[in-house]
Amino acid sequence: MILKVNNLKKHYGDVKAVDGISFSVKKGEIFGILGPNGAGKTTTLECIEGLQHHDEGDIEIFEKKMTVNDDFFKERMGIQLQESSLPPRMKVWEALDLFSSFYNKNVDWRELLVKLQLEDKKNNYFSSLSGGQKQRVFVALAMVNDPEVLFLDEITTGLDPMARRQMWNVMKTIKYAGKTVVMSTHYMEEAEYLCDRVMIIDKGKVIADGTPGELIDRMGMKNRVIIESEEKIDVEIFKTIKSVLDISVEKGKIEIEGKDTSVLADIARIINDRKIKANIQYKTANLEDVYLHLTDHFNEEVI
Ligand SMILES: Nc1ncnc2c1ncn2[C@@H]1O[C@H](COP(=O)(O)OP(=O)(O)O)[C@@H](O)[C@H]1O
Ligand SMILES: [Mg+2]
Repeated sequence: MILKVNNLKKHYGDVKAVDGISFSVKKGEIFGILGPNGAGKTTTLECIEGLQHHDEGDIEIFEKKMTVNDDFFKERMGIQLQESSLPPRMKVWEALDLFSSFYNKNVDWRELLVKLQLEDKKNNYFSSLSGGQKQRVFVALAMVNDPEVLFLDEITTGLDPMARRQMWNVMKTIKYAGKTVVMSTHYMEEAEYLCDRVMIIDKGKVIADGTPGELIDRMGMKNRVIIESEEKIDVEIFKTIKSVLDISVEKGKIEIEGKDTSVLADIARIINDRKIKANIQYKTANLEDVYLHLTDHFNEEVI
């Protein structure tokens, strides 16, 4: 384990921003911290990064107890903050050159620019970059000291889908280079695609953790079949199928939940036998279903 956090607590007055969080991160993995706004993601990250004093609990990183403002840790970690900015008239290469001067150990920032697809932006002013390019500059700045662990706080928030996917590629490249990444995100699709393990937090507490696959399995809603048809289908015809757990109808769509994948074949057979013209879709649960279920965020938004 490259990072171990045990019973971390950080309060701001009455607000329990982080209220007893424990987790650990293995070397070389991408670990995701997920949760709604105000859940405590940034505070957790800032405590681990040594930017904030925590009130209680232990943080051990690189097998050493974390202490705030210690060069031992600063030299070995890369940090991108949720709210970052650079002077608008600073050129990309100037920023990299400046940040490199803060550390004893450096990588050649020209190589970083190539890796982060920013080579042709070297002489651009920071203010002239797109959102995605700016975020990639912040990743580059976090990597000038060739860190072992990289912390990224909502690095893709606000980016368009193309820029987001470009960032995902960058992060995969970072992982393949053997780095450990601890990231926070709002996007479940992103977490599912990138993260080896995730922890969902809400109101300063961990509400679930594991690999995305484990969390989805635990939800036990793996097999869903959606049937759409212009014909009126009597849902009674599906009740004979043994593996059916639940049938619901919403906005003309029939949704059937089955115990296993056999439910799909059984439904298809019934529809085929009766010569019903229908569109059948098979869906598995994803991390977003898990997240919405656990955080109740969905309900809040509907109300
Ligand atoms: N500097 C601060 N002073 C007071 N309260 C804060 C401060 N920073 C964060 N908080 C509060 O702590 C909680 C967790 O915030 P934060 O860690 O930023 O959550 P997230 O990053 O998950 O959105 C929120 O209720 C937030 O309002
Ligand atoms: Mg935050």
